[in-house]
Amino acid sequence: MRQPLIAGNWKMNGSLDSVSTLVEGIKAGLDSVTTAEMAVCPPYVYLPAVATLIGGTSISLGAQDVSDQEAGAYTGEVAPGMLTDVGCKYVIVGHSERRSIYGESDAFTASKFAAARKAGLVPILCVGELLEEREQGITEQVVSRQLDAVIDLEGVDALAGAVIAYEPVWAIGTGKTASPDQAQDVHSYIRAKLAALDSGVAEKVRILYGGSMNAGNAAELLAMTDIDGGLIGGASLKAADFLAIGTAANR
Ligand code: 13P
Repeated sequence: MRQPLIAGNWKMNGSLDSVSTLVEGIKAGLDSVTTAEMAVCPPYVYLPAVATLIGGTSISLGAQDVSDQEAGAYTGEVAPGMLTDVGCKYVIVGHSERRSIYGESDAFTASKFAAARKAGLVPILCVGELLEEREQGITEQVVSRQLDAVIDLEGVDALAGAVIAYEPVWAIGTGKTASPDQAQDVHSYIRAKLAALDSGVAEKVRILYGGSMNAGNAAELLAMTDIDGGLIGGASLKAADFLAIGTAANR
């Protein structure tokens, strides 16, 4: 059985004060979450503070992005080894905001994925189509192309030790969630694509859904066969909502 993962992507939100309040709130209700692994992905600068706050709990730490380089003259970048150094287990790569706002390509995302794995991080690889791509009926081709960039570079085996997040771009931050059936269709497509290459990897990899997932819609999404958790934006900034999503994964 795949343990559900509920990961909060805080994006560029928070302050030292507010992240501390948020983490204390999550810790206070953590006993209500019986099955899922809970993870938080704060902005880089708050990682050490959050690592301290979650010390001794079952909450995992992740970063929102990473450099594809190990060290050196790369002003403004943060190396994968630095993330493990401050206690990260996970790192998000290829989030649609990185792809669309900062122009990060499939190939660049794949090189970040490779660098993260090399340092012992578990990459959370984001894939997903734009609204116009869904309307053109090319959702599967887009997701397939995004996955192939990683598979071509690292091999399908690399995905066994990773997490995939299906995030339809039109559902991110819009309040417009994919229906459980719409999400399940893409999740099962992804798993079948991987199964054609390696059934063991397909069985093992966790595929999260992301895009306006909240306390009200989490249960029906998480009930779908191929949805193994969520990558939560807005609703992860409120402890009660984030915990409610966590408890919606109780089995
Ligand atoms: P929202 O939950 O705010 O739609 O964001 C989803 C997301 O982008 C998580 O990475």
